[in-house]
Amino acid sequence: MSYTAGVVGGSGFTGGELLRLLDGHPDFEIVQATSRQYEKRSVGTVHPNLRHLDLRFSDPADLDSVDVLFTATPHGVSMGRIDAFLDHADVVVDLSADFRLATEDAYDRWYDGHDAPEYLDRAVYALPELTRDELPGAELIASGGCNATVTILGLLPLIAAGLVDPADRIVVDVKVGSSEGGAGGGAASSHPERSGIVRPYAPTGHRHEAEIETQLGTQVAFTAHAVDMIRGAAATCHTFPAEAVSRKDLWGAYRERYADEPFVRLVAGGSGVYRYPEPKVLAGTNYCDVGFAADARNGRVVVFAAIDNMMKGSAGQAVHGANVALGIEETTGLDFHGLHPVGAP
Ligand SMILES: NC(=O)c1ccc[n+]([C@@H]2O[C@H](COP(=O)([O-])OP(=O)(O)OC[C@H]3O[C@@H](n4cnc5c(N)ncnc54)[C@H](OP(=O)(O)O)[C@@H]3O)[C@@H](O)[C@H]2O)c1
Repeated sequence: MSYTAGVVGGSGFTGGELLRLLDGHPDFEIVQATSRQYEKRSVGTVHPNLRHLDLRFSDPADLDSVDVLFTATPHGVSMGRIDAFLDHADVVVDLSADFRLATEDAYDRWYDGHDAPEYLDRAVYALPELTRDELPGAELIASGGCNATVTILGLLPLIAAGLVDPADRIVVDVKVGSSEGGAGGGAASSHPERSGIVRPYAPTGHRHEAEIETQLGTQVAFTAHAVDMIRGAAATCHTFPAEAVSRKDLWGAYRERYADEPFVRLVAGGSGVYRYPEPKVLAGTNYCDVGFAADARNGRVVVFAAIDNMMKGSAGQAVHGANVALGIEETTGLDFHGLHPVGAP
């Protein structure tokens, strides 16, 4: 079966990645991509990797009716237009944070409130490794955020296996590439300012803490660093469990939780140069690599996870979520590998 698809925010970074994925997906046909700034210009003008596409950007005010509408717009846009989006599509997959939290109170606390709180109950959070069973038949899908995804996938087996307790403190340090800031990322993402940096930002109170805690059911203390890469998010998570945890315990928990996951790979030691998760080798792919180590001397467990923020952290996750929601084999359009060797992505 073939589904028609539209992308609102098609000129942005994640919008471009969605168009790349949908173009290669056998079950989707792209009928619309919107941009106000590039209206009437060809998609290849903005996304040179897609210059073969015979498609021009259109005004997001003039939506075509489609089976699935992917919305890749800044925070606040989707919540303001969700009625129109759902009027024009059977399924809306939103890549922003507008429908990821469960309650209006949470948006009051972590954001600037919510314009359409009546939709929060209808939204299904898409991180298929966690919410696979809730996605079939969903009309409004809130695709998981990049920093939250890499952190949740890193920690999930520890929590599922009871190796850490909600009372155990968890400290998460994420390093992110400049594409997280979007095409309009501003000075902080401009090449001269970004080059060579390891710059802490949002040292406390990052909004993704709310998303992580909602999904994992445990508090995390989260800090992010902007680093000199374009694609990628790498999480290092430290916890000091009350009960000792061995390397064998860790292998058991991670193998059990991820045995059947097509997009999660365990990378924990072994030999070679890339012995722990590294975003560079994931660029352009929908994989999350997860690794861990037990630090007996300090009573610590350290977990590593890496993704491409534009793929597993946004567009790939959105297509994965749509596949599951629509009953399409879930790896369809996403089962390709990265490049090696490759320059800094
Ligand atoms: N970048 C990432 O790694 C990442 C990861 C996870 C989630 N996300 C989320 O995904 C969303 C998109 O991120 P991005 O990085 O792709 O941003 P981006 O590169 O800045 O692109 C934003 C897109 O939205 C369009 N847009 C802006 N305001 C709009 C409006 N009022 N109505 C309709 N379209 C509008 C823009 O085009 P015009 O202005 O020309 O219309 C552009 O196509 C954000 O909510 C972001 O938080 C991003």
